Amino acid sequence: MSNLRIAVQKSGRLNEDSMNILKDIGISIDNGKDQLKAAARNFPVEVFYLRNGDIPQYLRDGVVDAAIIGENVLIEKGNDLNFVERLGFSKCKVSIAVPKESKANSLKDLDGKRIATSYPETVKKYLKEYNLDAQLHIINGSVEIAPNIGLADGICDIVSSGSTLFKNGLKEIEVLLKSEAVLAVSPKISKERQAILQKIQFRIQSVLKGRD
Ligand code: PRP
Ligand code: MG
Repeated sequence: MSNLRIAVQKSGRLNEDSMNILKDIGISIDNGKDQLKAAARNFPVEVFYLRNGDIPQYLRDGVVDAAIIGENVLIEKGNDLNFVERLGFSKCKVSIAVPKESKANSLKDLDGKRIATSYPETVKKYLKEYNLDAQLHIINGSVEIAPNIGLADGICDIVSSGSTLFKNGLKEIEVLLKSEAVLAVSPKISKERQAILQKIQFRIQSVLKGRD
């Protein structure tokens, strides 16, 4: 029988929660951290440890059959992809923030201004929806520093506890979207692997019920 190939975040905030849910549904993986791929001992599953932003393309290409991924990443890079289950963990917001002394109160107030972000497609989507125009600076990390160094008037980034915003003297002025981890699926998944995924999905559903 062929293995279901499931992608999880290699390192970062989703990694631990992802490995926990796999453990909770009884899939045990020998996790040598440096391994990029590991087979489960007791289930026809192989786990691939990948960079978050790369996962949508792997799903599209059918290199992996499924993934545990933030909905925000799917919205940014995988709008064409489907997910079969919300997982209820790794909740966060994708928000607009500005320096706390700024007079801007919403994304609308940043019309014609500069916004730094790692989520350009998401920001563009909302700018278009509101019929606004802004200059986007794409940064891959530490976005919250941008207003302080004069690079931007506002930012769009993930907010979880709010601590990074606070430490950088920023305030949240608009929540663009709320996100959580989801179980995404490749459009190229085979029938056989689809059946394995369904088993995993049933187990996940009962674990999530138990967590409520
Ligand atoms: C993420 C995100 C925010 C922060 C939000 O950054 O980009 O900066 O976490 O979390 P908080 O609201 O709990 O502070 P991360 O620490 O992953 O680093 P990076 O932006 O450099 O990738
Ligand atoms: Mg950050």
